[in-house]
Amino acid sequence: MQPLNSVSALREFLAVKASIVFVPTMGNLHEGHIDLVRQARNHGECVVVSIFVNPLQFGPAEDFDKYPRTLAEDCKKLQGLADAVFAPSVNEMYPQQQTIYIEPPTIANELCGEVRPGHFRGMATVVLKLLNIVQPQVVIFGKKDYQQLYIIRQMVTQMNLPIRIIGGVTVRAKDGLALSSRNQYLTETERAEAPFLYQVLTKISQCLQNGERDMFKLEHDAKTALAQRGWQVEYVSTRNRLTLAEPDSEDRELVVLAAARLGVTRLIDNMEIDIG
Ligand code: PAJ
Repeated sequence: MQPLNSVSALREFLAVKASIVFVPTMGNLHEGHIDLVRQARNHGECVVVSIFVNPLQFGPAEDFDKYPRTLAEDCKKLQGLADAVFAPSVNEMYPQQQTIYIEPPTIANELCGEVRPGHFRGMATVVLKLLNIVQPQVVIFGKKDYQQLYIIRQMVTQMNLPIRIIGGVTVRAKDGLALSSRNQYLTETERAEAPFLYQVLTKISQCLQNGERDMFKLEHDAKTALAQRGWQVEYVSTRNRLTLAEPDSEDRELVVLAAARLGVTRLIDNMEIDIG
């Protein structure tokens, strides 16, 4: 399938479509992305996937340059699943310097935002631009990037965008590791260790469901266990699922989120928890 590279070509293609479902990505597609694209088919006539590695959401010391770019293979994978692939150049997306940004809520400075200052601002800005270009009725994001999904929902609500946002469940490898384009940075030994992040989240979930309420202790134990096995832990944090704020004792709908590095590779994961 041939990607469309310009805003004008995409708009021309979409002009006659009755309903548009959109899946934004940075490419290097894996089964997690593909699952979102498959779901998209149930929500409208025309499925559009964007592939764009957005410089605005990468920090100066991050992996923008080495982020895997595999457009030809991605287009093959989308054959028969998507109706259009939008793969603009940086110049097409930012023909002039972007001086107007979406300023996300303060939660964007916590969790992933604490180590990645400006990340969510750059992410929300490109997503708004993509939404304006594609003008979909429905957009599908993965819960794998839980904080991203939360910020996008806030943007859509607060900016009155006439768009429905759907959160797709995280697709995992058989051993539990959440699929991610960054997993390929892992060495063989690190790849064998990587599912431990999912295991600590599972343990916290089970403890909370069994009546344990000392979240601080659960998070502390998880961080210690990770660190002892050579992980550099950024955070393990249980939050209210609807606000991403720290939960109070009444909260029943929770999510535990974690980010940690194995060598040079930064992995994130999360798990929703309902407590009785
Ligand atoms: P990217 O990391 O390519 O992810 C694109 C979409 O796929 C996101 O909604 C992400 O949550 C989802 N996804 C990634 N891994 C997944 C998995 N294992 N299971 C289910 N869904 C998964 O997220 C981005 O790109 C960018 O920030 C973007 C929104 C495109 C803006 O640049």
